[in-house]
Amino acid sequence: MSPDPARPAAEVLADLRALRGADAPTRGGRTFAYVYDPALPGLDELAAAAYAEFATVNGLDMTVFPSVARLENDLVGAAAALLGAPGTQGTFTSGGTESILLAVKTARDHARVTRGVTDPQLLLPATAHAAFHKAAGYLGLETVVVPVDPVTFRADADALAAAITDRTVLTVASAPSYPHGVIDPVAEIAAASAERGVLCHVDACIGGWLLPYLRRAGRPVPAFDLTVPGVTSLSVDLHKYGYADKGASVVLYRDAELRRHQYFAHAGWPGYPVVNPTVQGTKSAGLLAQAWAVLQYVGEDGYTALAAGVADASDRLLAGLRDTEGVEVLGDPSAGLVSFTLPAGLSLLLHLADELRERGWYLQPQLSHGELPANLHLTLTPATVDRVDGLLADLREALKTARTLPPVSVDPGVLELAAALDPATLGPEEVAAVLAFAGLTGAGGLPTRMAPVLVLLDALPAPLQERLLAEFVGSIFRI
Ligand SMILES: Cc1ncc(COP(=O)(O)O)c(C=O)c1O
Repeated sequence: MSPDPARPAAEVLADLRALRGADAPTRGGRTFAYVYDPALPGLDELAAAAYAEFATVNGLDMTVFPSVARLENDLVGAAAALLGAPGTQGTFTSGGTESILLAVKTARDHARVTRGVTDPQLLLPATAHAAFHKAAGYLGLETVVVPVDPVTFRADADALAAAITDRTVLTVASAPSYPHGVIDPVAEIAAASAERGVLCHVDACIGGWLLPYLRRAGRPVPAFDLTVPGVTSLSVDLHKYGYADKGASVVLYRDAELRRHQYFAHAGWPGYPVVNPTVQGTKSAGLLAQAWAVLQYVGEDGYTALAAGVADASDRLLAGLRDTEGVEVLGDPSAGLVSFTLPAGLSLLLHLADELRERGWYLQPQLSHGELPANLHLTLTPATVDRVDGLLADLREALKTARTLPPVSVDPGVLELAAALDPATLGPEEVAAVLAFAGLTGAGGLPTRMAPVLVLLDALPAPLQERLLAEFVGSIFRI
């Protein structure tokens, strides 16, 4: 792509539109991961217009652009009204990962100042989102991972409590967890943490804007927010069940004194004095404005009706799945997210995902983890309500076809070879050879059938999977 010669706007936009052709649809309820479609007329147009109004405003300096403070205070205020307690303060961020990164940094710095902890540990249930591992990696914390209950898939509060040490700076509970959509025992984990003087974060990135409205719609939802004693911070993504465009989340703290540790300030250079509440410096206020606009447009009753729609989709999907021979729903999902496995085996499960994709449905494969089985994951949104019956019908057909396909398995010789590889010292040629064997070469695009690739990945140790996947993604982003 060359910036020269200049091209007319219409032509440029047409190119962009054409690029979308190969993408999974983000509207219409057939993509059961990554996208949140409220199916609300006018919402996308409003978000785009609101973004455009503020696209050129720099969120770096709210003293020069006071509108930024007004919008952020409104948004954080709305989140605090929904999920906070008296004293709650917070920050608008770019997404769940950034909210989590900031909560972990805050806990690390708070523990250093108040408890003298210099070699911090982050205590996680196995189902906590990968973003916590990323935060620990970026910020120099050791992760301590505790298995979850293998039947309910919920965090084991007693095991977590027993794993708290003098080095623990933060414990985590999910409401709900991404892998299985179940709510951890927040009150127990928070109480055990408070007893030891340890902070406790509730990851409500995906559930925070759904669960309170499910409750308002009459569904039973346990207490999980900052009103629970011992919960000291909470993340909630507006770009999930808040239905804002991507790049919108809020991190809340019990008070401003705790939040203080999140801020970065630097006066020791000859440039302008820097105070960054978040990771980014310069940032467009467009994302803030679109999220603000979406919240106003949907409103309390709107969110309640949307949550009722999601619960309805979930009820019908769960009933249909439980009624399908050979399918096992994992745990007792709280609405929104559903995962199921096929006890008949991984090969059949992944064939099923491929067959469904050929029929125009995207379900997200999740690989096995210790005792926890591989599964297919669905994120339900209001646009999926009218799709559930069609999905279930296609799923049963796809399952029939999948049963006729030859099972994919991994050559034991490859596994033996893989076991001898050290991901840390693998050279580029060796990595390229394994990737080619797995059918993962960025150059030719992804294979249309993912089952053979995923069966192999599932059999490899996690560090080797990580090395291969990073290399694969690097091969896609090659210019
Ligand atoms: C529970 C939970 N936490 C954190 C995240 C990470 O959020 P993001 O992808 O917005 O960075 C997700 C994303 O699905 C999530 O479901």
